[in-house]
Order: sequence, then C-alpha cells, then structure tokens
Amino acid sequence: MEVISAPEAMTAWSEARRKQDRRIALVPTMGYLHDGHLSLIRWAVERAEDAVVSIFVNPTQFGPQEDFGAYPRDMERDLALCRRAGTRVVFAPEVEDMYPAGFQTVVSVKEVSRPLCGATRPGHFDGVATVVTKLFTIVRPHWGVFGEKDYQQLLVIKRFTRDLNLGVEVVGRPTLREPDGLAMSSRNKYLTPEQRPSALSLSRSLALAEELVAKGEREAESILRKIRDMIEATPGTEIDYAELRDPETLVQVNRVDKPALLALAVKVGRARLIDNRIIG
Ligand code: PAJ
Repeated sequence: MEVISAPEAMTAWSEARRKQDRRIALVPTMGYLHDGHLSLIRWAVERAEDAVVSIFVNPTQFGPQEDFGAYPRDMERDLALCRRAGTRVVFAPEVEDMYPAGFQTVVSVKEVSRPLCGATRPGHFDGVATVVTKLFTIVRPHWGVFGEKDYQQLLVIKRFTRDLNLGVEVVGRPTLREPDGLAMSSRNKYLTPEQRPSALSLSRSLALAEELVAKGEREAESILRKIRDMIEATPGTEIDYAELRDPETLVQVNRVDKPALLALAVKVGRARLIDNRIIG
C-alpha cells in the first residue's frame, strides 16, 4: 500500500492506472476509521481493481465554533486498517496541499444543501462539495463511495457530480451500527460512559417512527411530536432537528403516504450525532 500526500503525485498514479484499464474506487474519509468506513472500503476493494482511501480532516466544512481542532485523529491505526482491508493507496494530503495560499473557489449546491444540517451548520455543505470535487478531480475515480448515514451529504454529492459532469458514479452504502443500534461515527468517541445510553435515543426514534407508521399513523406532526417527547425525556440531550422530508428533494412532508426520510440531529454532551431512516 502506498501513502501519497501530493495531489500531483496522486493524479499521476491514477492516470497510469487508467491507462492500464484499471478501475479506481475512492472512499473519502476524515479518518479515525471505524467499521462503517471499513464497509465502504471493502465494497471498493471488491468492486474495483484499485481502492483508494482519502484521509483528510477538511477544515472548510467545520464552522468556527465546531470541533475541527478536537476532531479525533490516529493516522498510524488508520493506515494499518486500510492496509489490512486491501487498500492500494491512501491519499493523505496536508491542509496546504488542498488549500494553498490564494485558494478562493467554492462549489455550492442550492436546494438540497439548505435544510437540515445546511440550516444548522452554515457553510458546511459548501466545504464538503468543494473538497469532494477536488478529491474527484485529483484521484479521478470511476466510483466514489459514501455512507447513507450522512444522507443529505450523499444527495449533495450526487447533485454536483451530475451538475458538473464529473464522470464519477456516486455509490451510497447502508449505515453500520453498534449491536445496540447506535450508528457508528468517529464522533461517538466524545460520548462519556454516562452519556452513551442517551445516544440510543436517535436509533430508538427511528424504530418508533417506523412502528407508528406500521400501526397506521400518517400525520408527520403527530409522529414528530412523539419522537421529540421521547428524546426530550432522555437526560443530557438537545434536539438540533427532527424532521420528515421527501427522500429525493428534502422538501418537508406533512403526511407519510409514501416513503419519507426521518432525519435527526441531536446533541448528546459535546457530541452532535446524526441518524436517519426511510420510513413507510
Ligand atoms: P467521515 O465522517 O469520515 O465519513 C466518511 C464516509 O463514511 C462518509 O461517506 C460517511 O457517510 C461514511 N460513514 C460514516 N459513518 C458510517 C456508518 N456508520 N456506516 C456507513 N458509512 C458511514 O463524511 C465525511 O467524512 C466527510 O464529510 C467527507 C465526505 C470525507 C468530506 O470531507
């Protein structure tokens, strides 16, 4: 396994592979890898001749009051996990490699970036769209592999990839969970043992919504009220949003007459956790 940090060297590597008709799958990450990341890497290793994993904690997608500095990092462990999973190249640029002096371009997606995390984290999806566009143009993969755990992020990436004719097939993969239901996330590290049980209020809410719809409940307001009540009754939690939206457009829905996306963001201690499920 090679570790490359210079964008030019990464592109040269990919160009050489493409000339040999080898197909490349890219798994973009911010590192501190867990089994959710590894499930994406395994898909890439199985599907493509060459799997590339990028590890880059992208400063432009963090707000000024957010956890860029504190975001967990462990490059040695990440490299060992990538190697064991059959990764061909880890692309691990420095901040100055990605954003050299004078950098001033932003990729910005309109409608699907606006609600949910776009509303509570201004500028976040501009940062994501810009860095993923750069990763796609540097690595030039055939596939880009992403998790449905970050459902809105996946929609944003699909949108600009089509809009800008980037020629990458964007693949979404299911959320991996701990045995008790908590969605795996690098930010779960922030949870103290006392806060850990409260974090289950997210996955429980998803199950509760599914149960209510199965029993015939259709009113979004009524479903969301029960979910909010349950989360608010859980110690140490603060709801950022709990919403039912159209899975394609993210427009709010009033009734669950067809499948709807339940999207949640909840603060538990200093961890801001997100989860989602398509219900109905
Ligand atoms: P990061 O949070 O490290 O996640 C990297 C990829 O892993 C994303 O596609 C995310 O959806 C996926 N992922 C996270 N938790 C998962 C889980 N429990 N099951 C399955 N997949 C999971 O998302 C980012 O980094 C960044 O925004 C990035 C796209 C790399 C741009 O900087």
